[in-house]
Amino acid sequence: MSVRPEEELYGGLPAPAGPGYLPAAGDPHWQRALAFFADYPAASLLSPAARAYLYWLLRRRRARVALEIGTYLAGTSEILARALAAEGGRLATIDLNLERDRQVRETIGTWPAGLSAAVDYFNIDSARYFGALEDRGDMRFDLVLVDGYHEYGYALFDMVMAAKYMAPGGAMVIDDGILPAVWWAARDFLDSHPGWSAVGPAMEQAPPLAPLRPSLADTTFIVLTAPATVVVGARPRAFHYAQLAGRGVRGFEFLPMPGQAPGRIEGVAILRASRPLPSHPEQQTLRLAIDLSGDVPTVLPCLLAVERPAARLDVELQLTYSGPGLLRLRAEPEAIIQA
Ligand SMILES: C[S@@+](CC[C@H](N)C(=O)[O-])C[C@H]1O[C@@H](n2cnc3c(N)ncnc32)[C@H](O)[C@@H]1O
Repeated sequence: MSVRPEEELYGGLPAPAGPGYLPAAGDPHWQRALAFFADYPAASLLSPAARAYLYWLLRRRRARVALEIGTYLAGTSEILARALAAEGGRLATIDLNLERDRQVRETIGTWPAGLSAAVDYFNIDSARYFGALEDRGDMRFDLVLVDGYHEYGYALFDMVMAAKYMAPGGAMVIDDGILPAVWWAARDFLDSHPGWSAVGPAMEQAPPLAPLRPSLADTTFIVLTAPATVVVGARPRAFHYAQLAGRGVRGFEFLPMPGQAPGRIEGVAILRASRPLPSHPEQQTLRLAIDLSGDVPTVLPCLLAVERPAARLDVELQLTYSGPGLLRLRAEPEAIIQA
């Protein structure tokens, strides 16, 4: 089947808008997506409804940055690229399979120029990909399609790392969520990530061996949504500040959401400094605590700085919050740099 031209699927319709992560049956954007992706692209492993849903969701959320773990033959990548290109966004798609590498590159090369230009394909596994993101520190996804290795440990790893780089309100679409190993990974992910929730009936408790239900009919998706703000609860949540300028940090600024209840923030900050070999890396650790009086901006003092210049400085902040409900922040805590 030949590649279709780049086109505005929603031509003549108002811009897609509205809350929620599931389409209503009569939604005209959903109908257009269903018609377009009914039997296209042939290389996608997903069902027609699943293909249409990814397109619909990306455009509904006005998504600009998305990640696909598991490119396979790039069929689904084309769908994601179509939605992202319509909003001026970009797709990263990764796959560890070496044998299909050339074929994937050639396939992407056959797409209309606007689509292939919107895609970064990497022939690497998710651990290496997320490791590289660690160095950048600033990548935030509006959507991640978790569709790599469907074994419990790998699926959970991909979810946990995807969550770390998810934009507030972003969506994680997990394929083959109706497999028990993937379902339990999603269950354990939700239990350890406050503020995240499941779309549709997917995570309603099922009796042992009962058929598991997807978030959306005619798909095998579990769709999870990130909290709309940055949240911290009783379990430590990590924030990373990569490749800092200056000698270290002297505090972190918190901007609580309006209506935030008073509570206590506790944490550990770790500074890691590396210098050219054979020097040993330097590590400093500081325990921190502050009482938050409500929704006022608050600085948590934390003086962690190196005496000698370092080739590279990174700081990790592990935080917990105790109080009524969760700590909800407008943004991730901002590091105040020690010059
Ligand atoms: C189910 S297929 C992906 C299907 C594709 N998303 C689609 O909808 O057509 C799974 C793919 O994930 C890849 N994969 C498995 N484990 C991976 C990992 N840890 N990192 C990256 N890719 C992985 C496999 O090589 C395989 O191509």
